[in-house]
Amino acid sequence: MKFPAYRARRLRSHPQLRRMVRETVLTTNDLIYPLFAVPGSGIANEVRSMPGVYQLSVDKIVEEAKQVYDLGIPAIILFGIPADKDTDATGAWHDHGIVQLAATKVKEAVPDLIVIVDTCLCEYTSHGHCGYLQVGDLTGRVLNDPTLELLKKTAVSQVNAGADIIAPSGMMDGFVQAIRQGLDQAGYEDTPILSYAAKYASAYYGPFRDAAESTPQFGDRRTYQMDPGNGREALTEIALDIAEGADMLMVKPALAYMDIIWRVKQATHLPVAAYNVSGEYSMLKAAALNGWIDEERVVMETLTGFKRAGADLILTYHAKDAARWLDT
Ligand code: PBG
Ligand code: ZN
Repeated sequence: MKFPAYRARRLRSHPQLRRMVRETVLTTNDLIYPLFAVPGSGIANEVRSMPGVYQLSVDKIVEEAKQVYDLGIPAIILFGIPADKDTDATGAWHDHGIVQLAATKVKEAVPDLIVIVDTCLCEYTSHGHCGYLQVGDLTGRVLNDPTLELLKKTAVSQVNAGADIIAPSGMMDGFVQAIRQGLDQAGYEDTPILSYAAKYASAYYGPFRDAAESTPQFGDRRTYQMDPGNGREALTEIALDIAEGADMLMVKPALAYMDIIWRVKQATHLPVAAYNVSGEYSMLKAAALNGWIDEERVVMETLTGFKRAGADLILTYHAKDAARWLDT
Protein backbone atom coordinates (compact mmCIF):
# COMPACT_ATOMS: atom_id res chain seq x y z
CA MET A 1 0.00 0.00 0.00
CA LYS A 2 1.08 3.49 -0.81
CA PHE A 3 1.25 6.13 1.93
CA PRO A 4 -0.27 8.51 2.67
CA ALA A 5 -3.65 7.19 1.57
CA TYR A 6 -5.41 10.48 1.79
CA ARG A 7 -3.79 13.55 0.32
CA ALA A 8 -5.36 16.70 1.76
CA ARG A 9 -3.22 18.67 -0.66
CA ARG A 10 -5.23 17.47 -3.67
CA LEU A 11 -7.86 20.14 -3.10
CA ARG A 12 -5.24 22.86 -2.72
CA SER A 13 -3.54 22.30 -6.04
CA HIS A 14 -5.31 24.98 -8.10
CA PRO A 15 -6.72 28.41 -7.22
CA GLN A 16 -10.11 27.46 -8.68
CA LEU A 17 -10.25 24.32 -6.58
CA ARG A 18 -9.37 26.34 -3.51
CA ARG A 19 -12.20 28.72 -4.34
CA MET A 20 -14.63 25.80 -4.64
CA VAL A 21 -13.90 24.34 -1.24
CA ARG A 22 -13.43 27.54 0.70
CA GLU A 23 -15.72 27.43 3.75
CA THR A 24 -15.67 31.04 4.85
CA VAL A 25 -15.84 33.99 2.50
CA LEU A 26 -15.82 37.55 3.76
CA THR A 27 -18.13 39.99 1.95
CA THR A 28 -18.83 43.71 2.26
CA ASN A 29 -22.24 42.71 3.69
CA ASP A 30 -20.44 41.67 6.86
CA LEU A 31 -18.87 45.05 7.58
CA ILE A 32 -19.83 47.98 9.81
CA TYR A 33 -17.72 51.15 9.78
CA PRO A 34 -17.30 53.28 12.95
CA LEU A 35 -17.29 57.10 12.69
CA PHE A 36 -16.57 59.82 15.27
CA ALA A 37 -18.59 63.03 15.10
CA VAL A 38 -17.34 66.35 16.53
CA PRO A 39 -18.97 69.81 16.56
CA GLY A 40 -18.03 72.40 13.95
CA SER A 41 -17.60 72.20 10.21
CA GLY A 42 -14.78 71.34 7.86
CA ILE A 43 -13.01 69.39 10.59
CA ALA A 44 -11.00 66.21 10.06
CA ASN A 45 -8.61 65.53 12.97
CA GLU A 46 -6.60 62.38 12.52
CA VAL A 47 -6.50 60.34 15.73
CA ARG A 48 -2.86 60.16 16.82
CA SER A 49 -2.98 56.49 17.78
CA MET A 50 -5.19 55.42 14.84
CA PRO A 51 -3.67 56.38 11.49
CA GLY A 52 -6.42 56.72 8.88
CA VAL A 53 -9.16 57.33 11.46
CA TYR A 54 -10.51 60.85 12.00
CA GLN A 55 -12.74 62.86 14.27
CA LEU A 56 -15.07 64.45 11.72
CA SER A 57 -17.50 67.34 11.79
CA VAL A 58 -20.99 66.48 10.59
CA ASP A 59 -20.48 67.81 7.03
CA LYS A 60 -17.47 65.50 6.71
CA ILE A 61 -19.36 62.60 8.27
CA VAL A 62 -21.95 63.00 5.54
CA GLU A 63 -19.26 62.88 2.82
CA GLU A 64 -17.78 59.83 4.47
CA ALA A 65 -21.20 58.16 4.73
CA LYS A 66 -21.70 58.58 0.98
CA GLN A 67 -18.32 56.95 0.30
CA VAL A 68 -19.08 54.09 2.67
CA TYR A 69 -22.42 53.51 0.94
CA ASP A 70 -20.82 53.63 -2.51
CA LEU A 71 -18.33 51.00 -1.38
CA GLY A 72 -21.26 48.69 -0.64
CA ILE A 73 -20.86 48.70 3.14
CA PRO A 74 -24.38 48.43 4.59
CA ALA A 75 -23.93 50.27 7.89
CA ILE A 76 -22.00 52.74 9.99
CA ILE A 77 -21.87 53.08 13.77
CA LEU A 78 -21.74 56.60 15.12
CA PHE A 79 -19.94 57.90 18.20
CA GLY A 80 -20.17 61.50 19.33
CA ILE A 81 -17.75 63.85 21.03
CA PRO A 82 -19.83 66.71 22.52
CA ALA A 83 -18.70 70.31 22.99
CA ASP A 84 -19.42 70.08 26.72
CA LYS A 85 -19.45 67.24 29.21
CA ASP A 86 -21.26 67.13 32.57
CA THR A 87 -22.28 64.68 35.28
CA ASP A 88 -25.73 64.13 33.71
CA ALA A 89 -24.29 63.32 30.26
CA THR A 90 -26.62 65.96 28.81
CA GLY A 91 -24.91 65.77 25.43
CA ALA A 92 -25.93 62.12 25.10
CA TRP A 93 -29.69 62.60 25.21
CA HIS A 94 -30.10 66.20 24.09
CA ASP A 95 -32.29 66.54 20.98
CA HIS A 96 -29.57 68.61 19.35
CA GLY A 97 -26.68 66.49 20.57
CA ILE A 98 -23.79 65.87 18.21
CA VAL A 99 -24.67 62.26 17.46
CA GLN A 100 -28.35 63.16 16.92
CA LEU A 101 -27.29 65.83 14.43
CA ALA A 102 -24.95 63.44 12.64
CA ALA A 103 -27.64 60.73 12.43
CA THR A 104 -30.18 63.17 11.00
CA LYS A 105 -27.83 64.54 8.36
CA VAL A 106 -26.57 61.14 7.29
CA LYS A 107 -30.11 59.77 6.91
CA GLU A 108 -31.09 62.85 4.87
CA ALA A 109 -28.14 62.42 2.52
CA VAL A 110 -27.94 58.61 2.33
CA PRO A 111 -31.31 57.19 3.39
CA ASP A 112 -30.37 53.61 2.54
CA LEU A 113 -27.28 53.48 4.69
CA ILE A 114 -28.09 51.84 8.03
CA VAL A 115 -27.15 54.12 10.89
CA ILE A 116 -26.30 52.36 14.14
CA VAL A 117 -25.73 54.62 17.13
CA ASP A 118 -23.61 53.65 20.11
CA THR A 119 -25.70 54.26 23.21
CA CYS A 120 -23.43 54.98 26.14
CA LEU A 121 -22.62 57.93 28.35
CA CYS A 122 -18.82 57.85 28.69
CA GLU A 123 -18.23 60.30 25.84
CA TYR A 124 -20.64 62.73 27.51
CA THR A 125 -19.84 62.54 31.23
CA SER A 126 -17.25 64.90 32.72
CA HIS A 127 -15.63 61.96 34.55
CA GLY A 128 -15.63 59.63 31.53
CA HIS A 129 -17.57 56.77 33.15
CA CYS A 130 -20.46 55.02 31.41
CA GLY A 131 -23.16 56.25 33.80
CA TYR A 132 -24.09 58.10 36.97
CA LEU A 133 -21.69 58.11 39.91
CA GLN A 134 -22.52 58.67 43.54
CA VAL A 135 -21.64 62.27 44.38
CA GLY A 136 -18.04 62.25 45.62
CA ASP A 137 -17.27 58.79 44.23
CA LEU A 138 -13.69 58.66 43.02
CA THR A 139 -13.61 54.97 42.20
CA GLY A 140 -15.96 54.83 39.20
CA ARG A 141 -18.51 52.45 40.65
CA VAL A 142 -21.35 53.42 38.31
CA LEU A 143 -24.89 53.42 39.77
CA ASN A 144 -26.79 50.87 37.74
CA ASP A 145 -30.50 51.72 37.87
CA PRO A 146 -30.31 55.53 37.70
CA THR A 147 -28.08 55.05 34.64
CA LEU A 148 -30.78 52.95 32.95
CA GLU A 149 -33.09 55.97 32.95
CA LEU A 150 -30.49 58.04 31.14
CA LEU A 151 -29.84 55.28 28.63
CA LYS A 152 -33.53 55.01 27.84
CA LYS A 153 -33.76 58.72 27.23
CA THR A 154 -30.61 58.66 25.12
CA ALA A 155 -31.82 55.80 22.92
CA VAL A 156 -35.19 57.44 22.27
CA SER A 157 -33.57 60.75 21.29
CA GLN A 158 -31.20 58.89 18.95
CA VAL A 159 -34.08 57.16 17.18
CA ASN A 160 -36.00 60.45 17.05
CA ALA A 161 -32.99 61.83 15.20
CA GLY A 162 -32.99 59.00 12.66
CA ALA A 163 -30.93 56.13 14.11
CA ASP A 164 -31.94 52.76 12.65
CA ILE A 165 -30.34 50.53 15.27
CA ILE A 166 -29.48 51.18 18.92
CA ALA A 167 -26.25 49.70 20.26
CA PRO A 168 -25.96 50.01 24.04
CA SER A 169 -22.34 49.54 25.14
CA GLY A 170 -22.22 50.38 28.84
CA MET A 171 -22.62 46.88 30.32
CA MET A 172 -25.26 47.98 32.84
CA ASP A 173 -27.48 45.17 34.13
CA GLY A 174 -30.91 45.35 32.55
CA PHE A 175 -29.95 47.90 29.90
CA VAL A 176 -31.50 45.99 27.03
CA GLN A 177 -34.82 45.66 28.85
CA ALA A 178 -34.82 49.32 29.87
CA ILE A 179 -34.03 50.53 26.35
CA ARG A 180 -36.54 48.12 24.76
CA GLN A 181 -39.20 49.49 27.08
CA GLY A 182 -38.23 53.09 26.34
CA LEU A 183 -38.29 52.51 22.59
CA ASP A 184 -41.61 50.66 22.68
CA GLN A 185 -43.22 53.40 24.75
CA ALA A 186 -42.04 55.94 22.21
CA GLY A 187 -43.59 53.91 19.39
CA TYR A 188 -40.31 52.47 18.14
CA GLU A 189 -41.24 48.79 18.41
CA ASP A 190 -39.46 48.08 15.14
CA THR A 191 -36.07 49.54 16.04
CA PRO A 192 -33.60 46.70 16.68
CA ILE A 193 -31.13 46.58 19.57
CA LEU A 194 -27.58 45.40 18.93
CA SER A 195 -26.36 44.73 22.44
CA TYR A 196 -22.71 44.89 23.41
CA ALA A 197 -23.53 41.71 25.33
CA ALA A 198 -20.07 40.38 26.17
CA LYS A 199 -17.81 43.38 26.51
CA TYR A 200 -14.55 42.90 28.37
CA ALA A 201 -12.58 45.41 30.44
CA SER A 202 -9.84 45.64 27.84
CA ALA A 203 -6.65 47.61 27.38
CA TYR A 204 -7.32 47.36 23.65
CA TYR A 205 -9.77 50.29 23.93
CA GLY A 206 -6.93 52.74 24.59
CA PRO A 207 -6.79 54.34 21.13
CA PHE A 208 -10.60 54.60 20.96
CA ARG A 209 -10.51 56.67 24.12
CA ASP A 210 -8.12 59.06 22.34
CA ALA A 211 -10.59 59.23 19.46
CA ALA A 212 -13.70 59.60 21.62
CA GLU A 213 -12.01 61.59 24.40
CA SER A 214 -13.63 59.21 26.88
CA THR A 215 -10.82 58.04 29.14
CA PRO A 216 -12.12 57.77 32.72
CA GLN A 217 -10.68 60.60 34.82
CA PHE A 218 -10.24 58.19 37.76
CA GLY A 219 -10.83 54.53 38.46
CA ASP A 220 -11.48 52.09 35.62
CA ARG A 221 -14.37 50.18 34.05
CA ARG A 222 -13.80 46.85 35.82
CA THR A 223 -16.94 47.13 37.95
CA TYR A 224 -19.11 47.00 34.82
CA GLN A 225 -17.12 45.49 31.95
CA MET A 226 -16.19 41.79 32.10
CA ASP A 227 -13.05 40.20 33.46
CA PRO A 228 -10.83 38.91 30.62
CA GLY A 229 -10.40 35.57 32.38
CA ASN A 230 -14.09 34.70 32.15
CA GLY A 231 -15.60 32.69 29.31
CA ARG A 232 -18.72 31.10 30.81
CA GLU A 233 -19.81 34.48 32.11
CA ALA A 234 -20.19 35.62 28.49
CA LEU A 235 -22.90 32.98 28.12
CA THR A 236 -24.69 34.33 31.19
CA GLU A 237 -24.52 37.82 29.74
CA ILE A 238 -25.92 36.81 26.38
CA ALA A 239 -28.69 34.73 27.97
CA LEU A 240 -29.77 37.80 29.94
CA ASP A 241 -29.68 40.06 26.90
CA ILE A 242 -31.68 37.58 24.83
CA ALA A 243 -34.30 37.34 27.58
CA GLU A 244 -34.44 41.13 27.73
CA GLY A 245 -35.13 41.39 24.01
CA ALA A 246 -31.81 41.93 22.25
CA ASP A 247 -31.97 41.41 18.47
CA MET A 248 -28.24 40.99 17.88
CA LEU A 249 -25.34 40.24 20.21
CA MET A 250 -21.84 41.61 20.19
CA VAL A 251 -18.56 40.24 21.50
CA LYS A 252 -15.84 42.79 22.12
CA PRO A 253 -12.87 42.91 21.64
CA ALA A 254 -12.46 40.32 18.90
CA LEU A 255 -8.88 39.09 18.46
CA ALA A 256 -8.12 37.98 22.01
CA TYR A 257 -11.70 36.67 22.32
CA MET A 258 -12.14 34.39 19.32
CA ASP A 259 -13.17 31.57 21.65
CA ILE A 260 -15.95 33.76 23.03
CA ILE A 261 -17.22 34.55 19.54
CA TRP A 262 -17.32 30.82 18.88
CA ARG A 263 -19.08 29.97 22.13
CA VAL A 264 -21.64 32.73 21.73
CA LYS A 265 -22.35 31.55 18.20
CA GLN A 266 -22.98 28.00 19.44
CA ALA A 267 -25.27 29.30 22.18
CA THR A 268 -27.66 31.43 20.12
CA HIS A 269 -29.36 31.66 16.76
CA LEU A 270 -29.37 35.46 16.84
CA PRO A 271 -26.87 37.29 14.65
CA VAL A 272 -23.47 37.68 16.32
CA ALA A 273 -21.27 40.73 15.84
CA ALA A 274 -17.59 41.05 16.68
CA TYR A 275 -15.96 44.41 17.38
CA ASN A 276 -12.45 44.53 15.95
CA VAL A 277 -11.47 47.29 18.36
CA SER A 278 -9.20 50.30 18.17
CA GLY A 279 -6.10 48.71 19.74
CA GLU A 280 -6.32 45.78 17.33
CA TYR A 281 -6.45 48.25 14.46
CA SER A 282 -3.56 50.32 15.83
CA MET A 283 -1.26 47.33 16.27
CA LEU A 284 -1.85 46.09 12.76
CA LYS A 285 -1.59 49.55 11.27
CA ALA A 286 1.67 50.30 13.10
CA ALA A 287 3.26 47.11 11.80
CA ALA A 288 1.98 47.82 8.29
CA LEU A 289 3.29 51.40 8.29
CA ASN A 290 6.68 50.08 9.35
CA GLY A 291 6.65 47.74 6.39
CA TRP A 292 6.77 44.72 8.71
CA ILE A 293 3.62 43.02 7.48
CA ASP A 294 1.51 42.96 4.31
CA GLU A 295 -1.46 45.09 5.41
CA GLU A 296 -4.00 43.82 2.89
CA ARG A 297 -3.27 40.16 3.49
CA VAL A 298 -3.16 40.49 7.27
CA VAL A 299 -6.41 42.50 7.41
CA MET A 300 -8.27 40.05 5.17
CA GLU A 301 -6.95 37.05 7.10
CA THR A 302 -7.97 38.64 10.40
CA LEU A 303 -11.48 39.58 9.26
CA THR A 304 -11.99 36.15 7.71
CA GLY A 305 -10.88 34.66 11.02
CA PHE A 306 -13.61 36.56 12.88
CA LYS A 307 -16.19 35.28 10.45
CA ARG A 308 -14.89 31.71 10.69
CA ALA A 309 -15.10 31.99 14.48
CA GLY A 310 -18.80 32.79 14.11
CA ALA A 311 -19.17 36.52 13.56
CA ASP A 312 -22.01 37.40 11.20
CA LEU A 313 -21.08 41.07 11.41
CA ILE A 314 -17.74 42.78 12.00
CA LEU A 315 -17.35 46.32 13.28
CA THR A 316 -13.97 47.42 12.00
CA TYR A 317 -11.92 50.51 11.22
CA HIS A 318 -10.55 48.51 8.26
CA ALA A 319 -14.03 48.34 6.65
CA LYS A 320 -13.41 50.81 3.82
CA ASP A 321 -10.05 49.27 2.89
CA ALA A 322 -11.50 45.77 3.11
CA ALA A 323 -14.42 46.74 0.85
CA ARG A 324 -11.97 48.10 -1.74
CA TRP A 325 -9.83 44.97 -1.59
CA LEU A 326 -12.89 42.75 -1.91
CA ASP A 327 -13.88 44.65 -5.01
CA THR A 328 -10.62 44.03 -6.87
C1 PBG B 1 -18.13 53.09 24.94
C2 PBG B 1 -17.37 52.32 23.93
C3 PBG B 1 -16.02 51.96 23.92
C4 PBG B 1 -15.77 51.31 22.72
C5 PBG B 1 -16.98 51.27 22.03
N1 PBG B 1 -17.95 51.87 22.80
C6 PBG B 1 -14.93 52.27 24.86
C7 PBG B 1 -14.88 51.84 26.25
O1 PBG B 1 -15.67 51.01 26.71
O2 PBG B 1 -14.04 52.42 26.93
C8 PBG B 1 -14.42 50.79 22.26
C9 PBG B 1 -14.23 50.67 20.80
C10 PBG B 1 -12.82 50.52 20.35
O3 PBG B 1 -11.87 50.37 21.15
O4 PBG B 1 -12.62 50.54 19.14
N2 PBG B 1 -18.50 52.41 26.07
ZN1 ZN C 1 -19.27 53.81 27.82
